[in-house]
Amino acid sequence: MGSEIRKLEHIFTDFQFVFTDIKELNLLDFTAVEEFISKENFSLCLNCAAYTAVDKAEDEEELAMKVNFEAVENLAKVCELYKIFLVHVSTDYVFNGEMNRPYIETDSTSPNSVYGWSKLKGEEAVFENTSRAIIIRTSWLCSAFGNNFVKTMLRLGKERSELGVVFDQVGTPTFAADLATAMLKIAQQIDSKPIQEIYHFSNEGAVSWYDFAKAIMEESGLDCIVNPIESKDFPTKAKRPFYSVLNKEKIKKDFNIEIPYWRDSLRIVLKEISRQVLPN
Ligand SMILES: NC(=O)c1ccc[n+]([C@@H]2O[C@H](COP(=O)([O-])OP(=O)(O)OC[C@H]3O[C@@H](n4cnc5c(N)ncnc54)[C@H](OP(=O)(O)O)[C@@H]3O)[C@@H](O)[C@H]2O)c1
Repeated sequence: MGSEIRKLEHIFTDFQFVFTDIKELNLLDFTAVEEFISKENFSLCLNCAAYTAVDKAEDEEELAMKVNFEAVENLAKVCELYKIFLVHVSTDYVFNGEMNRPYIETDSTSPNSVYGWSKLKGEEAVFENTSRAIIIRTSWLCSAFGNNFVKTMLRLGKERSELGVVFDQVGTPTFAADLATAMLKIAQQIDSKPIQEIYHFSNEGAVSWYDFAKAIMEESGLDCIVNPIESKDFPTKAKRPFYSVLNKEKIKKDFNIEIPYWRDSLRIVLKEISRQVLPN
């Protein structure tokens, strides 16, 4: 997510960007966070840092909670102290997936996993410690950067002739470049008024992981046959929501944002992946 924002630096020239990561700044260290932030005259903080290993979190609850709750708490406190607007990224996994219509921001949360709980605690930490913040919940993040479903499918599509992918979990992919653009458009519209709002953002449409995998194979011309399987036949440590489509009406209306259809953005990312050798 952070790398996609960095790619837009040359387009959003009204901002001066400072990027950092754990090598330079560990968000678990409150003093280091305050020292880092006090050095510059920041007006806005876009927090993309998180513990994101959903299955591993089931065995590493303490670490997941530290990064997704305590680190967020540190950041939120320092943002409040220095009057910095905080945009924090959260997840569809705060929902249990039992809904049968797209989730709106006010729907009750009830995570199925340690990761989901840790991110929900992070959301609470944001609003308990800052008066000017928005939380953007997103789902199924994909990009030419990092490891994600698109890249896994491309690898497996080349290695195997056949593959089973779950068809009973439905959501919406989010191409991180589209979310990065939305975050910066939102940043342009922020004023000095207190605000605490949650927004949902993913690409347009809804799809199962099976349909998504089929589309990846088709769009990239891979011959691999994708078969639909049930979640019970693909057990994972962390339980995922069966349905986590997000309703984006609020973010579209409040910030006048247009969201691309997931398959159109998939084509763009596949082109990028085929053109570039990117660091992970
Ligand atoms: N990926 C998804 O499918 C998905 C879906 C919904 C929501 N989200 C949310 O979207 C956001 C961005 O996700 P992403 O996929 O871009 O995550 P990512 O690729 O895992 O990046 C997270 C970054 O946070 C860094 N980090 C971890 N602990 C830190 C600490 N203590 N201090 C400073 N930095 C730290 C990580 O560094 P290391 O790599 O060195 O650990 C990594 O660079 C997260 O809030 C995530 O919860 C993701």
